[in-house]
Amino acid sequence: MSSIAVYPGSFDPVTLGHLSVLARASKLFGSVEVLVVHNPNKTSTFSSGERVALIESSIEELGLGSNISVSSLDSGLLVEHAKKLGAQALIKGFRTAADIEYEIPMAQVNRDLSGIETVFLPSEPGYGYVSSSLVREVASLGGDVTRYLTPQVAKALLERLGK
Ligand code: PNS
Repeated sequence: MSSIAVYPGSFDPVTLGHLSVLARASKLFGSVEVLVVHNPNKTSTFSSGERVALIESSIEELGLGSNISVSSLDSGLLVEHAKKLGAQALIKGFRTAADIEYEIPMAQVNRDLSGIETVFLPSEPGYGYVSSSLVREVASLGGDVTRYLTPQVAKALLERLGK
């Protein structure tokens, strides 16, 4: 049986750090679904549809595995979606100890609810400090974010911020 993993997140927008985790996850599982999750408590820069399109174009740009798909979840529990998909694992990237403190309770609750395990992949050292929110802030203040994003995502972010 082919193993299925779901890589959930806000991806607002997707960074090279996310894409590095995705590339590595796609080598560990038969297929990986990147899932853009709508968070009603967060104001987003890009709509779910735009985020999906930016991830798809980044995957193509970087030539990542053909076993990757991208979709979005606008409501409901992540693990319910993952169960329907037949997934065995959730993928999470972590950068610092602070990420682990935030992620461990979610991983435990997700397993309680569904039996689905969370697999953590450490970020590449070069992306250990890169987050979507930091990249948005730097871009909005006129800083160069091209080293953290694919060219198409950088272009879309600068356009969205009116830069
Ligand atoms: O990139 P983010 O914002 O850190 O991702 C957080 C995300 C989307 C993974 C988390 O908020 C989530 O799983 N939301 C889905 C709703 C849900 O199932 N909540 C219960 C989590 S224990």
